[in-house]
Amino acid sequence: MSDTLEFEITRNERPVTAGERAAILADPGWGRHFTDHMVTIRYSAERGWHDAKLEPYGPIPMDPAAQVFHYAQELFEGLKAYRQPDGSIVTFRPYMNAARMNRSAKRMAMPEIPEQLFVDAIELLVRTDKDWVPDTEGHSLYLRPFMFATTRALGVNSPASEFLFMVIASPSGLYYPRGIKPVSVWLSQDYSRAAPGGTGEAKFGGNYAASFAGQAEAVQQGCDQVVWLDAVEHRWVEEVGSMNLMFVYGSGSKARLLTPALTGTLLAGVTRDSMLKLAPDLGLPTEEGKISVDEWQAGCESGEITEVFGCGTAAIISPVGWVKGRDRAWTIGDGEPGEISMRLRQELIGIQYGTRPDPYGWVHKLS
Ligand code: COI
Repeated sequence: MSDTLEFEITRNERPVTAGERAAILADPGWGRHFTDHMVTIRYSAERGWHDAKLEPYGPIPMDPAAQVFHYAQELFEGLKAYRQPDGSIVTFRPYMNAARMNRSAKRMAMPEIPEQLFVDAIELLVRTDKDWVPDTEGHSLYLRPFMFATTRALGVNSPASEFLFMVIASPSGLYYPRGIKPVSVWLSQDYSRAAPGGTGEAKFGGNYAASFAGQAEAVQQGCDQVVWLDAVEHRWVEEVGSMNLMFVYGSGSKARLLTPALTGTLLAGVTRDSMLKLAPDLGLPTEEGKISVDEWQAGCESGEITEVFGCGTAAIISPVGWVKGRDRAWTIGDGEPGEISMRLRQELIGIQYGTRPDPYGWVHKLS
């Protein structure tokens, strides 16, 4: 199978006007507005990937018996396009998203997509809708590649054989309107996000559907986000909301970073990986390990743990300020974003927005 396809291009005859677009870009919110075009690529067991199209953004006809509606066979990715100081546009580590989508696809019995086709699809959409890439500091064009089963069949004994891969794009501001102010988190004891042997490390829509009740419980408890613990002992800390978690021990030149290791139940975040590579270059040793709820509380109470933050593509870095559980509660630091969290955030943002050098080769210029 070829690694690329020729795209059939149909331009949107009624794109959003320049005035409407400017109004949207002035206050984009997060994930609420979409650009003028989208990409669709079909897959069938007989033909492989075919029928690659760039077309006007809009509803797609779907058969009510399509397997995705019944058995939730759906995967997605998330990455961003950033406007550079010279007006050009870059994406960030797109091949890493492509590779992760393919790992997710394996777990969900879905077809892998050639990495180059994944990146070509993103580039074509960003190039076509380049005027939608914001130039406001901290804003970006959020790209959402996703894939789902379209096979018309209710049986489950043979896996789906037809799929649709799509990319849509959404101009976006800050994920949390409150910005980088620390969030409060609720330790979920009743719900689990992922179990050993399950789908936790796949970026599978169902993982997110299964998390909504836990998130709703967190909000009911007066918290902003839910912390997921391991499903077996409800003791080991795994993730926060849809983000990976990072713990800063110590401060100044003695600081170090710990993040829960990828055990199969955690998502291998691109931002997580970038933090693990950036931090040592800023003099901050890193460790992928294990931390229990008890250790987290004791570490904060003794002052050993100085900062905690969630990290992901959408929010980048989201400091955690307070923790609440059924029978416990504690604070982290002084309720302000920690110095190390902010330094790591600035470094990463600087690379993404082209205001700092990129010694890692992470920034991917539009070809
Ligand atoms: C991310 O943190 O990048 C996410 O995956 C969030 C998304 C589910 C809205």
